[in-house]
Amino acid sequence: MKIFVDSANLGEIEEAIKRGFPAGITTNPSILSQEKRTDFGLHIKQIIELLERYESTIPLSVEVFSVEPEEMIRQALRFFDQFGHYPGLNVKVPIGWEELTVIHELKKRGGRVNCTCCMSFNQAVMAASAGADFVSLFYGRIRDIGYDAFSVVQRTHQVFREGAVPAQIIVGSIRHIHDINEALLAGADIVTIPPKFFPQMVSHFKTDEAVNQFISDFRKWQER
Ligand code: E4P
Repeated sequence: MKIFVDSANLGEIEEAIKRGFPAGITTNPSILSQEKRTDFGLHIKQIIELLERYESTIPLSVEVFSVEPEEMIRQALRFFDQFGHYPGLNVKVPIGWEELTVIHELKKRGGRVNCTCCMSFNQAVMAASAGADFVSLFYGRIRDIGYDAFSVVQRTHQVFREGAVPAQIIVGSIRHIHDINEALLAGADIVTIPPKFFPQMVSHFKTDEAVNQFISDFRKWQER
C-alpha cells in the first residue's frame, strides 16, 4: 500500500514530501493547467529539483499531451532528454489501441511507463501485457458511468496477483476520502490522492478531544 500525491503544485508537493509519506507524484495535463502559466519543461524541472532537495527519487509521472502516437513518442523522448536524469521519471501514456505501440516503444528504449485513463479490467490487462510498469484506474470516473469501481480494482488486483503480473495498480480520480479507503481494500497497490484530502486523513474529533484532555489534565496537575 502506497500513497502518491496527485498534484503538480510545488507548495502542495513540498508540504507532503516534508511529512515523509509520499511514495510518488502523479501529474497530468489538466493538473498542470491549474498552475500559473509557465513553460511546461521548466515546471517539471522545478518539481524534480524540489524532490532532489529532499533527496527523494520517488516515481514522478509526466503525461504526454497529444492524441497522435508518433507525437506521443516524440514528446516522451524529449521527456527522457530533459528529465531523464531523475531516476523516478515515468511517462504517462493513455490506454488505447495505437497507444500500446507507444508503450511498447518506450519500454524498448528502457523507459518506465504509467498507462493512464484505464476505466476497465480489460484495459488494465492490455496495458500490463504491453509492459506498462504502472496501470492507472480512474475510480471516480468509472463510478460516474454507473460502474462498480470497487470490483474493477478488485478483479484487476486478483488477476495481476494470480498471474504474477509485475505492473502495479494505481487508483486515481479520487473524489472522496471513502474512495481512498475502498481502493485500498479492493487491492490497489497505490492510491494517488489530491493533497486537499491529506489533512482530513489524519484528523479525527476524538483525537482532538483526547489530546486536549491530556494537556488540560497535565496543566491542572502542575498547578496543584
Ligand atoms: C492520476 O494519475 C489521474 O490523472 C487523476 O487522478 C485523474 O483524476 P480526475 O478523474 O479527477 O481527472
